[in-house]
Amino acid sequence: MSSVNPPLLNEARATIRAQTRLAEPDILRDLMTASQPDVNQRANATAKAIGFVETLRSEKDLGLMEVFLAEYGLSTDEGVALMCLAEALLRVPDTETIDALIEDKIVPSRWQDHMGDSDSALVNASTLALMLVGKVLDPAPPPGVLAVVRGATRRLGEPVIRAAIGRSMKLMGKQFVLGRTIEEAVKQGAPDQKLGFSFSYDMLGEAAMTAGDAAAYFQAYWQAIAYLAKRSNNADIRDNPGISIKLSALHPRYEEGQRARVMAELVPLVSKLAVAAKTAGMGLNIDAEEADRLDLSLDVIEAVLRSDELAGWDGFGVVVQAYGKRAGGVITWLYALATELDRKIMVRLVKGAYWDTEIKRAQVDGVKGFPVFARKVATDVSYICCANRLFAMTDRVYPQFATHNAHTVATILELAGDDKPFEFQRLHGMGEALLNTVMQRENCRCRIYAPVGAHKDLLAYLVRRLLENGANSSFVNQIIDETIPANVVAADPFDALTDTLSAGDGAIVLPPALYGTTRQNAKGWDLRNPNDIAAFERARAPFLSQQWRAEPSRSSVGGGLEVEIINPADPGDCVGVVVQIDAVGVEAAVAGARPWAASVDERAHTLCKAANLLEENSGEIFALLTREAGKTPVDGVAELREAVDFLRYYAAEAGHHSERNPCGIFACISPWNFPLAIFTGQVAAALATGNAVLAKPAETTPLIAALAVRLMHAAGVPEDALQLLPGTGPIVGGALTS
Ligand code: FAD
Ligand code: 2OP
Repeated sequence: MSSVNPPLLNEARATIRAQTRLAEPDILRDLMTASQPDVNQRANATAKAIGFVETLRSEKDLGLMEVFLAEYGLSTDEGVALMCLAEALLRVPDTETIDALIEDKIVPSRWQDHMGDSDSALVNASTLALMLVGKVLDPAPPPGVLAVVRGATRRLGEPVIRAAIGRSMKLMGKQFVLGRTIEEAVKQGAPDQKLGFSFSYDMLGEAAMTAGDAAAYFQAYWQAIAYLAKRSNNADIRDNPGISIKLSALHPRYEEGQRARVMAELVPLVSKLAVAAKTAGMGLNIDAEEADRLDLSLDVIEAVLRSDELAGWDGFGVVVQAYGKRAGGVITWLYALATELDRKIMVRLVKGAYWDTEIKRAQVDGVKGFPVFARKVATDVSYICCANRLFAMTDRVYPQFATHNAHTVATILELAGDDKPFEFQRLHGMGEALLNTVMQRENCRCRIYAPVGAHKDLLAYLVRRLLENGANSSFVNQIIDETIPANVVAADPFDALTDTLSAGDGAIVLPPALYGTTRQNAKGWDLRNPNDIAAFERARAPFLSQQWRAEPSRSSVGGGLEVEIINPADPGDCVGVVVQIDAVGVEAAVAGARPWAASVDERAHTLCKAANLLEENSGEIFALLTREAGKTPVDGVAELREAVDFLRYYAAEAGHHSERNPCGIFACISPWNFPLAIFTGQVAAALATGNAVLAKPAETTPLIAALAVRLMHAAGVPEDALQLLPGTGPIVGGALTS
């Protein structure tokens, strides 16, 4: 057994936070420098992995999932159609929408191209069914036999088609769920248990939306532990069943913004389950979910593990996702925690199941980088380095390696040598052939993660399985494709990575560059990361008691009424004063309005400059959005980003449509609920094509509009091309009605 020097807990946490979105090469270099296997180990692992691939292919004994995905992976239109259907059928409540979806997804696809392609009768039968349904629903009837089938099925009616497709989707779901109840699951798992597999049961359910849902999921876990307790009779906890829990199932607001509530309410619940598992002599594992929950989950994990009630129990388990840039840091922190508390814990290393979500979320949020690696080989390398790190921590950590990839499995075997304790884990319905072979040949422990529950709770889990396995980079997808040679399927990821390490964050454009050369993405704020939250608070702090003033651009002409603007959430907070325009002022503004005579390029350049100024003044804008409009920080960020994007978007569009002439004077009246975004969008659209604008903000939110106008003027929009007309009513015939 070996050990490493743990850092202080708070130092380790600071490192983790700093790693969240670092560039891929920087993280990988650190990981590889510290924990890369040596050349011999890599060569042995690759040779072993090629052997596994050849064995699996020669035995032709792959699981149904692998065979199905080989035919309908996500690189085919049909695979994508099935994926959408599976999701929709589990979610859509009414039959009309289900029928419309079936028609939409089934008809346009070329199912006939897959007919007979697969070695599996079940996959071919599914293809036939899907093909016939496609033909039946197709409005242009084919001649011959299919026309007869079409007529017959039409007579049977759409409910029959719906039921047939629903049933095949259920079959697909069944592939992944061991049983509807814990009793059923234990019974169904008996044959695998005889083969030597143990189980970690997962009660399906996650992302609880209500307290009622969370309470029901808690009961499901509680009862499952009580049931499994009777079957946990081995002295060695590793021989007993375990349970895997998702924190998002246990609390309806498991999110960074509700940290205090989560710590007060969720920690006692998890502790209660952990004590029950300890008493039963079984393991309890905390699954890893979306990256933005990671920081919070570490606080929950620490708070639970600190309880004296858990002392002497080696069954507390934590999942680490190797695709996450923080994986190495989390492992170091877990080791430091176990050392400080003088405990032994279990760490399940996975690659990570939320990859598509993480990439899309980072792009939508416009943050500086991804929290996960963007290249598959980077994840594979990270996994191996993290595994090596775990093997150096076995005085405190029992490593559990969850993977269905032959190269990853072979590398673990190589790194483990003869004396290191560990177990493999696989998901129910996946990787059967590989891990059966490994168990027999290598005599090592293997556990099956077994989802238990009702069909209605399967959706999110099923979609993750289809996404991760349908991707053509996945091992499951490649093993079945015999055109890919075994040495490619089992290639050493370190070799592939070396070629690309200098290439930034991988093949996927980083969020700031999402719109390519068209326009720059608006700067995002990651309000789920404590470091970004602190920066956000620092930026708006100087404006928490400032008062603003909004007045008509030509206020000297009319004699407007002055009105105080009060914070809607705090009657004691006067945010500023607005001088409302009167009819005389409106007449003067209309008379003084002048279309913006600058060239298209200059207008576009000025609008982009205004966008930059909005970003540079984000602290003031966030403070004002909250105090004047009652926006939460998350809404405030979205509001500012939309305004910035409107300016850049219309600037770019103006360049594409330079032939358009201005129409004259525009009155832009904006609503209170998007007092900056919609206000700026309307104004920017009219200005981009050279019009003059009279901007009338909602009467409750004139201060943020005045700030936006000030910044647009500062950027170079002429004062007579953009005038602010704060008031109380709509403009009618050139004058405000009240
Ligand atoms: P491979 O085909 O080698 O790897 C596929 C994985 O590579 C993808 O899932 C993704 O992580 C990664 N990947 C794919 N494309 C890219 C890309 N372009 N850039 C970077 N990375 C990429 N997952 C969780 O998130 N949380 C859990 O708590 C969890 N628990 C699990 C428990 C068990 C017992 C098992 C077996 C799996 C668990 N998983 C969990 C799911 C797990 O993350 C996936 O099954 C796993 O990623 C598949 O990896 P593989 O080695 O089997 O396959
Ligand atoms: C998931 O739910 C297995 O925890 C993993 O996708």
